[in-house]
Amino acid sequence: MGPCRIGFVGTGGVAHRHARVLGGMSGVQLVAATDVAPSSASVFGEAHGVRTVPDLDALLGEELDAVYVCVPPFAHGALEVEIAAAGKALFVEKPLACDQPTAEWVGRRIRTSGVLSRVGHHWRCAEPVQRARKLLDGRQIRLVSGTWLDCTPPVAWWADRARSGGPLVEQAVHVLDLARFLVGEVTEVHAAAGGRLPGGVEAATGALLCFANGAVGTIATTCVLDGRHRTGLEIVADGIVVGVGEDWLDVRDAEGAHRAEYDAMTPRTAVDAAFVAALRGTPVPPERDAPDHTEALRSHRLACALARSAESGRAEMVR
Ligand SMILES: NC(=O)c1ccc[n+]([C@@H]2O[C@H](COP(=O)([O-])OP(=O)(O)OC[C@H]3O[C@@H](n4cnc5c(N)ncnc54)[C@H](O)[C@@H]3O)[C@@H](O)[C@H]2O)c1
Repeated sequence: MGPCRIGFVGTGGVAHRHARVLGGMSGVQLVAATDVAPSSASVFGEAHGVRTVPDLDALLGEELDAVYVCVPPFAHGALEVEIAAAGKALFVEKPLACDQPTAEWVGRRIRTSGVLSRVGHHWRCAEPVQRARKLLDGRQIRLVSGTWLDCTPPVAWWADRARSGGPLVEQAVHVLDLARFLVGEVTEVHAAAGGRLPGGVEAATGALLCFANGAVGTIATTCVLDGRHRTGLEIVADGIVVGVGEDWLDVRDAEGAHRAEYDAMTPRTAVDAAFVAALRGTPVPPERDAPDHTEALRSHRLACALARSAESGRAEMVR
């Protein structure tokens, strides 16, 4: 079997992370990359030994099996549609877009094309998440409390709500995806914004989440800190509290309270390994895999409903 040949659209921070992981895997060839900022592409090309090409058409002219789409939220849309139409598999970084119609359109086109897709919700592959899943299995979940208490990321587009989608869509979607994964679907939300920063992003948000299975939840976000304070979920079921994030697990049950810390790089590595395995047609255990575009779209719809509610001040159905 030949190597998995991979291209990149968008060569910023997260693309470097994927390239470092993929570059360390046997049987993977990083072929080419493109970026609207040629200087970014050339730094990436030199760092990872990858050819740089001027645009997506040139990238798709290369012999590729898959394309990593590592662009900011506002740039999603036509890129994925063109890649899928060319019959290439896609690994798309979250969020799927800064709005819902773009992500829905892309989703329809990816489904029509039949290409393999995965989305960078790697928290699902994290060991603490697997443990939380087992601990909660068979229990009735009553209460969910989600947090994303963080800084404003230093990338130029982030503070502009029209280009990032804001904290619920851009950051908290990791936690919302986890809530769906561990608890179930959310049907209705009611959010409020605690002020806005220049550029329009919500300085803080608080929201109520109603789950289809009867659980009730909240999510709180802020981006006014000088670093990440806490990101994750606390889930209460009868007799147990499970706190879980990308790299931590807190459990309080009849046996007492314990906390464990994990390496955040492990799920980030696992998600790329799973994508390469899927490209090769090797079965990937669900607990080691990322969601495809259709599944990630459900988390994006939830984030968009919250963002709409924070804007309108009214309750919103997730649809
Ligand atoms: N899953 C994760 O853990 C994780 C971590 C970091 C970032 N991300 C996500 O990855 C995305 C990118 O984040 P980043 O930190 O790499 O941002 P970045 O700003 O560092 O990089 C984005 C790159 O995309 C390029 N770009 C913009 N529009 C383009 C277009 N139309 N065609 C080609 N290139 C284009 C930019 O020039 C830039 O080089 C964001 O949506 C972010 O949320 C995910």
